[in-house]
Amino acid sequence: MTEAAAPSPADVARAMLTFDPTTPEYRANPHAAYRQARELGAVVRSPLGLWVVTHYDECASVLRNAAFGWGDSAPDEDTTTTTRFTTNPDGTQVRPFIFLDPPDHTRLRKLVNKAFTPARVRTLLEQTESLVADLLAKARAEAGDGPIDLMSTIARPVPALVLGTLLGVADEDVARFQSLCADIGRGLDLAVFLTPEQIARRDSGRHELIAYFGELAEKRRVEPRADLVSELVSVEEAGDKLTMAELCVTCTLLLSAGYVTTENLIGNGMLALLRNPEQLDWLRANPDRLDDAIEELLRYDGPTQLVGRVALEDTELGGQPIAKGETVLLMLGAANHDPAAYENADELDLSRSGRRNLGFGGGIHFCIGAPLARMVTNVVVGELVKHDLRLVPDAVRAGESITIRGVAELPVTVRDR
Ligand code: HEM
Repeated sequence: MTEAAAPSPADVARAMLTFDPTTPEYRANPHAAYRQARELGAVVRSPLGLWVVTHYDECASVLRNAAFGWGDSAPDEDTTTTTRFTTNPDGTQVRPFIFLDPPDHTRLRKLVNKAFTPARVRTLLEQTESLVADLLAKARAEAGDGPIDLMSTIARPVPALVLGTLLGVADEDVARFQSLCADIGRGLDLAVFLTPEQIARRDSGRHELIAYFGELAEKRRVEPRADLVSELVSVEEAGDKLTMAELCVTCTLLLSAGYVTTENLIGNGMLALLRNPEQLDWLRANPDRLDDAIEELLRYDGPTQLVGRVALEDTELGGQPIAKGETVLLMLGAANHDPAAYENADELDLSRSGRRNLGFGGGIHFCIGAPLARMVTNVVVGELVKHDLRLVPDAVRAGESITIRGVAELPVTVRDR
């Protein structure tokens, strides 16, 4: 008798998600796969037992429903991200608040919330504007008549440097963090899609960042500055609201959650504009609608394709019974193109208004960095579209991550208009 061949990652993917996100076709355009997945139903139990949620209403309802969260248990390593993100170098388990339920989630989120209010974010506006102008001028000078890669010259450094300022990370350390955050971001994918090396890099990246923030906090304890780490140190000193381990894990979360996502909203958004020249022209003619345009770019091709949750009690979703402890995967990318929620959902329409898209999530875990991400993307896109932009044909390289969808290289010629 011959032994059955081990299932391929593509087979496991289909059994887990009902579709295979590892193909070049999916990377180029996930929406054919999402359409088929939506047609299977709003809430579908995949053969491996995950609940896959692809319709807008059901995704939005899970995000706002206290019956779903993260729980105390450490769910299956292969299907969720919690276990992999909870063990610190010293073996203690301190989860970042993105993976916590109330009341710990509420306590920690509240401590950092004021650093991300629109008013606070406005204080970073001028710095962001001059950073974008400088980096663009430098990239153009270096490229001469040739194209520049928008990802490495603008989309990556700008969010990294702005986040660094907010937290208190020195500019000279930012390049190192970009690569650690990229490793952590890649590690958000389900384990079946990762190599052992990628898993090891994700874990060591996280440990390195946690250690860095520990050292930075000690420096700020002696000599505070106007940054978030200094503020958190004073909270930690003041009493029982924040432990040192929580401080380090929280800062690591902010840097890693904020960097790769903003980078890819800029990249995906610029690619969408370049591929839809009539929309680019519309934006140039309607610069006062830039905020709406950024929301539509987030809906149309946002970075965060999926988030997970665990049922905290026996419950029901879209007519399906969900048992306590079962995992649901919310396919935000599919929900944002649900034809029941949006007219001509697969089309980019920068003049669109109406329902808020799920690109920043919803409910108690709604992206805390949304005002910052919007401001940074707004400045970058607003500046770039003032120029004559030409995409180099066939040179765009897709990113590899499934959870965080993005472009690895985006070569564009940039001239004055
Ligand atoms: C375009 C850029 C961004 C996108 C698309 C994005 C997307 C998201 C999404 C979908 C969630 C919800 C996760 C869930 O429900 O499980 C989330 C949460 C979060 N985001 Fe963002 N994000 C972006 C930028 C940022 C920035 C700039 C920061 C911080 C500096 C940040 C920090 C966070 C944190 C800390 C959470 C967890 C919030 C909580 O659990 O209460 N994000 N983000």
